[in-house]
Amino acid sequence: MASSSESGGETASETAVRLTGESAGRQSGESAGRPSCESASWLGSAPARRLADKIVVITGAARGQGAAEVEALTVAGATVVATDVLPFSGATPDAVTRRTLDVTDAEGWKRLAQWLTVEYGRVDALVNNAGVAARERLPNVSLETWQRTFDINVTGPLLGIQALVPLMRAGSSIVNICSVAALAGHAAAAYTASKWALRGLTRSASLELGERGIRVNAVMPGLIDTPLMASASPAFTGAALTEIPLGRIGQPADIAPTIVFLISDDSAYYNGAELVIDGGLTAHVSHKRIADATR
Ligand SMILES: NC(=O)c1ccc[n+]([C@@H]2O[C@H](COP(=O)([O-])OP(=O)(O)OC[C@H]3O[C@@H](n4cnc5c(N)ncnc54)[C@H](O)[C@@H]3O)[C@@H](O)[C@H]2O)c1
Repeated sequence: MASSSESGGETASETAVRLTGESAGRQSGESAGRPSCESASWLGSAPARRLADKIVVITGAARGQGAAEVEALTVAGATVVATDVLPFSGATPDAVTRRTLDVTDAEGWKRLAQWLTVEYGRVDALVNNAGVAARERLPNVSLETWQRTFDINVTGPLLGIQALVPLMRAGSSIVNICSVAALAGHAAAAYTASKWALRGLTRSASLELGERGIRVNAVMPGLIDTPLMASASPAFTGAALTEIPLGRIGQPADIAPTIVFLISDDSAYYNGAELVIDGGLTAHVSHKRIADATR
C-alpha cells in the first residue's frame, strides 16, 4: 500500500473519496450517466430512456429473444441496428434499422462497420445473440454440424467483436448470449462445447478490452420459450421443467431487461461477469428431485 508520502500526502478520507469517484465533478456517478442515489428513482422501476444516447447492434434479432431485446432496447431509448439472416416481420419502429447479416460472414461484418461509420460514427454496444441449437448425441455429431455450430455460436461473436470494437469508445458494452449449457454438462455436445467456447471468449475479451474501458459480459439463459426451444423434444422440455425451481419455462421478456441493464451505465463495473437467468435450474445439482422425494 502507498505511504502518505508516496501518494502525495493524501489522507485516508481523501483516498476513500478518490477510490469511490466522489470527487468534484463525479458526484454519485452522475458523470457515468447514472441517476444520483439521493433521488433513489432507480430503486423503483427502471428509468425510462436510460439508453437514449446509445447505438446498439444486435444479431439474430428477427425472432425469439433477439426480437424481445430489440423491443426492450427501443423502450429504453436506444437506437438499434437489428440484424439477422431471416426476414423481419411487422413494421419497423422509428428507432430501429433492420439489416441482413450472417454472423459467419466476415465481409458482411466489415460492410456493417463501414455503414455504421458513415451513419453514426460509432457504436456503443454489441449484443451477440444469434445462435443455433445442435442436438445430436455424441456418436452422431457430424463434423459439418460441429463446424456450423461453432461458426455461428463462437466465430460469429468473434467476428462481430473484431469488426465493431474499432468503433467503440470507453464505456461501450458487449453482451454475449451464452447458455446454462456453458455452466454444466448438457447432452448436446456441439451446442454445449460452443457455448463453453463463447464463455471463454467473453472472459478473454473482458481482459483485453477492459483496458480500453469496453466491458464484455455473458448472459446464461435457462430454458426460454422461443423457436430454438421448440426444436427440442417434448421429453427434453418436460424433464427440464421438473428441474426448474420456479416451475415454469422462461419467456424472452425474462431476459431482455438484463440486456438493457448490461448496456446501460448502471452496469459500469460489470466486466467478465456471467449473469444466470434460469429460474433456479442450475442452482441445484438435481437436489430438487431429492428435496421433492423427501418432503
Ligand atoms: N431458447 C433457449 O432455451 C435458450 C437457452 C439458452 C441460450 N439460448 C441462446 O439465446 C440466443 C437466442 O436464441 P433464441 O432462443 O431466441 O432462438 P431463436 O432460434 O428464436 O433465435 C435465434 C436467431 O438467430 C438467428 N441466426 C441463426 N443463425 C444465424 C446466422 N448465421 N447469422 C445471423 N443470425 C442467425 C436466427 O435466424 C434467429 O433469428 C442463442 O444464442 C441461443 O443459443 C437460448
